Amino acid sequence: MQIWVLMVSLIFMAVIAYFFVATIKAVDGEDAVDPNDRRGKLIWGMLIAGIVITTASLWSWPHAVSDESEAIVVNATGAQWSWDIDNEELPLGKPVVFNVHTEDVTHGLGVVDETGRLLFQAQAIPGYVNKVEYVFSKAGEYRVICMEYCGLAHHDMTTEFTVGEQ
Ligand code: CUA
Repeated sequence: MQIWVLMVSLIFMAVIAYFFVATIKAVDGEDAVDPNDRRGKLIWGMLIAGIVITTASLWSWPHAVSDESEAIVVNATGAQWSWDIDNEELPLGKPVVFNVHTEDVTHGLGVVDETGRLLFQAQAIPGYVNKVEYVFSKAGEYRVICMEYCGLAHHDMTTEFTVGEQ
């Protein structure tokens, strides 16, 4: 699926680039992007820098979820207005995969630590299961909150779990 999205994006980008180049040529004549003039060098430099920076920064995406046979799997189900998680005692230092889904509207699963710092999040979208993996490095109490406005009691859509040595 992702490869098709990439292909379609690249085709659209090529079409847009074609019109840009055609417009530049129509306005300034054939040598508007001549690599030997200053403007041409700048354009080529920016293009190459853009490709290098984009490739380097996106190289590791999307992150693969680790083999679920090694990970602890938690099913997190959102519904107006509560979270149901089927495992409330999670291990320290081991991969935990959250399968995030919803029974009604879109919600946003967010996990915060005791200081209220957001550690990770995933959207709960009707008809889909989104997976997010996290390794807890500190024992303690954690809170699940909702990060997507989902109605009157959105702010109250929370639950808790603990992380400890097991
Ligand atoms: Cu569920 Cu906001």
